[in-house]
Amino acid sequence: MIRTLLLLVVVASNLGANAALAAYTPGVAYLLHCGGCHLIDGRSNPPEVPDLRGELGRIVAVPGGRDYLARVPGASQAPVSDQELAEILNWVLHRFNEKTLPVDFTPLTGEEVGKSRRNVLKDPLKHRATLWERYEAAQE
Ligand code: HEC
Repeated sequence: MIRTLLLLVVVASNLGANAALAAYTPGVAYLLHCGGCHLIDGRSNPPEVPDLRGELGRIVAVPGGRDYLARVPGASQAPVSDQELAEILNWVLHRFNEKTLPVDFTPLTGEEVGKSRRNVLKDPLKHRATLWERYEAAQE
C-alpha cells in the first residue's frame, strides 16, 4: 500500500515537471509548428527552405518586409492564432536575427499579422527576390 502511494507521488511529481517543461512559450510553438522544416536552430534546408538566421532583420527594414513574414505559406497557414503567430515571428526575429534587426524595430502585433496572413503568397520566392531588390536599392 505504502509502495503504491509512493509510486503515485513519484508519477504525480513527474507529471508536474513535464507540464512545466511543456509550458507554451513562443519557442515551443516555433518547434511545434515551424521546426519540422526550419529545424530547431532555424538553419532550415536551403535553398528550398530558406535559413531563418541572420537576414530577416534586413527584410523587415524594407517596405513590405514585415508583411512578408506572415504571408509565406508555412507561417500564414500554421494552425495558430494571429497573436501566437506574431509572437513566434518576433521570437524568430530576436532569437535568430538580433544582429540585423533595425534599432527602431517594433514587435509585430497580432492585428498586423492577422491582416498579412490572410493574403498568403502564391509565389513566395519571387516575392522574396523583390524584397531583396528593394533592400539593395536602399543601400545605394
Ligand atoms: C512544411 C514546411 C514548412 C513549415 C512547417 C514552415 N515553413 Fe517557413 N518556409 C518554408 C519554405 C519552403 C519557405 C520558402 C518559401 C516557400 O516556398 O513557401 C519558407 C519560408 C519562410 C520564411 C521566409 C524566409 C526568407 O528568408 O525569405 C519565413 C519567415 C518562414 N518561413 C517562417 C515560418 C514560420 C514562423 C513557421 C511556423 C509558424 C514556418 N515558417 C513553418 C517551409 C516551411
